[in-house]
Amino acid sequence: MKLAIVPGDGIGVDVTREAVKVLERLDARRSLGLELVSFPWSADHYLATGETVPPGAFDDLARNYDAIFMGAFGDPRVPDMKHAADILLGARFQLDLYVNYRPVRCLDDRLSPLKGYTAADVDFVVFRENTEGSYVGIGGHFKKGTPDEVATQEDLSTRRGVERIIRHAFSFAKETGRRRVVMSDKSNAMRFVGDLWQRTFAEVSREYPGIGASHLYVDALCLQLIRDPRPFDVIVTNNMFGDIVTDLGAALQGGLGMAASGNIHPGRVSMFEPVHGSAPRYAGTGRANPFGAILTVALMLEHLGNKEEAVAVERAVAACVSARKCTSDVGGELSTSAAADAVCERLAG
Ligand code: NAD
Ligand code: IPM
Ligand code: MN
Repeated sequence: MKLAIVPGDGIGVDVTREAVKVLERLDARRSLGLELVSFPWSADHYLATGETVPPGAFDDLARNYDAIFMGAFGDPRVPDMKHAADILLGARFQLDLYVNYRPVRCLDDRLSPLKGYTAADVDFVVFRENTEGSYVGIGGHFKKGTPDEVATQEDLSTRRGVERIIRHAFSFAKETGRRRVVMSDKSNAMRFVGDLWQRTFAEVSREYPGIGASHLYVDALCLQLIRDPRPFDVIVTNNMFGDIVTDLGAALQGGLGMAASGNIHPGRVSMFEPVHGSAPRYAGTGRANPFGAILTVALMLEHLGNKEEAVAVERAVAACVSARKCTSDVGGELSTSAAADAVCERLAG
């Protein structure tokens, strides 16, 4: 398995180092036959060379790699996020990774922030549309810098794009024994795009008579998720709402340091990254929680057909959290690298 590794910026570098450590440990013990190739694409690289992603790089990744692992992007020296737009959004858009798969599971009762709820009460999956919506970059400035300035930012949805993510959510529910898909939008205020999502959801849901299909406006969804997360199974939503709802989901998992994600096009090379950003103030301090990145390794291994290893990694992380062999954000005292070492030790045992 040939994997591309793009650590990126800030704590992306810190946590990717630990995710790679876990991958290498697994490879040593279970002979996965891994070949890891690192790419320097980051704010540092951009500022030093003017290059974000070299021409043809995504073609190379699509043709010659089995999966991509990314850390995080964002650096105060690049305020317009030009490099992140090219690298992170570039990967999502150019590789057409239309499924942003963000499972929300809480691994330990101690991490549940909701009074009266345990870890078992938080177990749902968010499918975020990943190639359209308000992320398409259509818009612009008019009379920029004057008192009459106008800025526009289009929210674009296509029938094909909406249909494929909704169908993916239903087929995932069917395959994994989940019983209910909630589609969330803001169709009361955003009629055109909302209407397309509503009609498509109604049509696709008819193909899955065994799976419950219901709708919540995204504001109401946010309320329900923290009032009682138990009824939620599968949530499907657009790019922007999926971004926001999965940070809320991360809080239910114990924080951004615990949340993992996959950017997937079924059957093609896909990209895996923790949900959190580059947290520049934590960079290099040893405070970043590597578990989100390590759980992302588990998602990637599962996607690549190594289910047993994926389960072993997730169990090892859960055991470390329970034993407080973890960083301070989840109640431990270990450094980034010591927390990952604790996972490796459990994998060895
Ligand atoms: P962030 O996720 O980087 O950090 C927000 C806060 O969450 C941190 O201050 C910290 O308290 C906590 N946190 C996040 N990850 C953690 C970890 N692994 N361990 C412990 N605590 C953790 O979000 P932000 O501060 O809004 O953004 C910082 C930069 O990252 C910005 O440039 C933003 O655009 C970018 N960003 C990138 C990605 C990505 O690359 N996928 C995702 C989100 C934000
Ligand atoms: C995420 C991030 C990105 C997004 C940013 C960095 C563009 O917040 O992956 O969740 O909004 O998709
Ligand atoms: Mn986000």
